[in-house]
Amino acid sequence: MASVSYSEELTCSVCLTIFTDPVNLPCGHSFCRQCISEVLTTQQHCPQCGAAAALEAASLPTSLVLKTLAEKAKAKTDEEKRLTAEVAGLCPEHEEKLKLFCITDQQLVCIICRDGEEHEGHQFKPVKEAAATLRKQLEMFEQSTADDIHAVERLAEAQKDEMFKTRERSQQLLARVGKQFEEMRRFLRRRENEIKSELKRKEEDNVEKMRETFQAVAVALSESRELKEKVSSVLKITESESFLKSWTEGKSKGALEHVFRPRVNELQVVESSLSLGPYESHLQFFMWKEMLQVVQPRAELLTLKSNSEDVVVSDDGRSLFCKPKTHQAFGYSTYTPSICLDSGLGRQNRHQKLGFVTVPSSTLGGRRYYNQNPSGTEATVNLQTASSVSEFGAGQHYWEIEVGSRNYWELGVMHNLLKYDGVKYAACGPNVSTELEFGNRPRKIGVYFNCSSKELSFYDADTMTHIHSVSAVFVTTPVSAQINIQHKEPDHSPVTVCWY
Ligand SMILES: *[C@@H]1O[C@H](CO)[C@@H](O)[C@H](O)[C@H]1NC(C)=O
Ligand SMILES: *[C@@H]1O[C@H](CO)[C@@H](O)[C@H](O)[C@H]1NC(C)=O
Repeated sequence: MASVSYSEELTCSVCLTIFTDPVNLPCGHSFCRQCISEVLTTQQHCPQCGAAAALEAASLPTSLVLKTLAEKAKAKTDEEKRLTAEVAGLCPEHEEKLKLFCITDQQLVCIICRDGEEHEGHQFKPVKEAAATLRKQLEMFEQSTADDIHAVERLAEAQKDEMFKTRERSQQLLARVGKQFEEMRRFLRRRENEIKSELKRKEEDNVEKMRETFQAVAVALSESRELKEKVSSVLKITESESFLKSWTEGKSKGALEHVFRPRVNELQVVESSLSLGPYESHLQFFMWKEMLQVVQPRAELLTLKSNSEDVVVSDDGRSLFCKPKTHQAFGYSTYTPSICLDSGLGRQNRHQKLGFVTVPSSTLGGRRYYNQNPSGTEATVNLQTASSVSEFGAGQHYWEIEVGSRNYWELGVMHNLLKYDGVKYAACGPNVSTELEFGNRPRKIGVYFNCSSKELSFYDADTMTHIHSVSAVFVTTPVSAQINIQHKEPDHSPVTVCWY
């Protein structure tokens, strides 16, 4: 009700609609700026009260309060109109029955709407028809939505399960980490106690010896003091006979030289000699080495076997070096172009000419391979290969290879090797070789292989810095560790498996 009276107050007496850009005349009456400026072109007074108004409507300031109120009233009136039309089921704009359904805009429209600009080119259907079609569609979708909801519910369940599993797995791993550290701590505590006990025992031994000497010193001291007193008292006797008697009646027999011998020469201070030897200066290092013996699991103690004629394995099976060639290979025609290739398959004395090599597609695991020697020219590498006697079929394995200062080596598992060519490192997969940015020149390479995931990782084994990881998906297990070296003559720097 209030809104009605509002609208009346906010109506321009010229156009009889709610104010648009209202201005006030000096007499106090308000009009739309447009309306009053039209009036003022023909007459110079207020159309409501007739008061003189000789002015330009354009120069009048907008009445801001009225403007705001007018805008609110307009919005309200529009909304009321729309509601009234809606309740009556009529088009809010044309107050016609909504007999059509605009398929393009998905809304009900009246006949006038259909011909209007807003719906030009749109597709329409009678309301009943549109409803029937939509109903059919919705019924169909209702079923599929139900199915979808079930599927999504299953996803939610599965996700919940995975969350739960992650938490559970994290708990297990936390427990395992805790247990392993506890084992190490237990070892350290035990060794700490042992070393401390040993120290205590040495302390007691030492002090015991010192105590014995100390007692001997004390005895000597009291004997000497007694002797001195006796001598003093004997010397006081002036009468010769009793003087002699007094001296000889005591137990002090024997030569005077013996009785008065200096005792200090017979005695010696036992000096402190408490020491823990290397434990004193290198305790942590010694403990770390000792700990290596109890660590579980340890690095694999690989034994190597040679797959090439010119490579020899040391007697202990740990080291690999080239022996001087007894014969010269003729040409390089029989080599296979992949240096990361099937060395275990009996190919011997393989050579590789480096450079871009296009691999025949029939070559198992062959790959394009590019290399340059330090001088930047193409070089020929005569590769010697060896592999571990044992093979890895399941579980996780870690081994370390000492490459020392050797300037060409490849190691890892078949088809997946870390390569050093004297200049740079590269990860060689079956068909690709990825150059690696690795600043240091590691002396020892640690290789980690998870047989189930085929994840293969390389580390600088002195610092346990990660070098590279690959997914060795083309590896078939069981697989052996592989080492390829370049022929060298004479060969003074073997590649050696680290045994701890
Ligand atoms: C490597 O090349 C061979 C032969 O062209 C192909 O069969 C194989 O799928 C390739 N492997 C990868 C990892 O691209
Ligand atoms: C090894 O790989 C399997 C399979 O992906 C995985 O379940 C397991 O956790 C991995 N083991 C370790 C120690 O990373």
